[in-house]
Amino acid sequence: MTILEQLHQDHINLSRLLEVLEMKIQKLKEGDSPNFQLLSELVEYIGNYADQSHHPREDHMYHYFELRDTNLDKDLKACEAQHVDLKQLSREVTETVDAVMHDAVIPMAEFIQRLENFVQRERAHINFEEQAIFPKINAISTADDWIVLEKNLPQHEDPLFGEKQGENYREIYKAMIQEVSAV
Ligand SMILES: [Fe+2]
Ligand SMILES: [Fe+2]
Repeated sequence: MTILEQLHQDHINLSRLLEVLEMKIQKLKEGDSPNFQLLSELVEYIGNYADQSHHPREDHMYHYFELRDTNLDKDLKACEAQHVDLKQLSREVTETVDAVMHDAVIPMAEFIQRLENFVQRERAHINFEEQAIFPKINAISTADDWIVLEKNLPQHEDPLFGEKQGENYREIYKAMIQEVSAV
């Protein structure tokens, strides 16, 4: 698998997690009392996955393909700025969930709105990459590029997305699916 294919697979994983979070938000809207522990772990996990594993690998790949195509360069710049914004956003949302979990008084409507905004912006970012950036990179890259890139990329196993993290992912996913389907 090339790094581009791995990053595409990350998008599929992230989208599944966002889908579970959306189901959770839907339950909140219907007035269910949330499992904040699970919600907190899920939001934190999505943030960590995106900000500390997925985006650094993308940044590395984007940097590698800079200065080959003016159009692509413009998108890469926008995308790198989105990575910075999303990191800030996921930190804020994680803090909000933790605050609510520790009895901070935030109106439920506002809490839901912040979660929805987080999901929407993460999704928009993934769609932007899938639709605007990945196809362009695919079009200008050669087999040699992938060999060179593979050698220098920070690996999935290091330091955050190793076996332990993979285990967390499965647990959270399983727990969330069980919760949603138990209704
Ligand atoms: Fe990204
Ligand atoms: Fe991405």
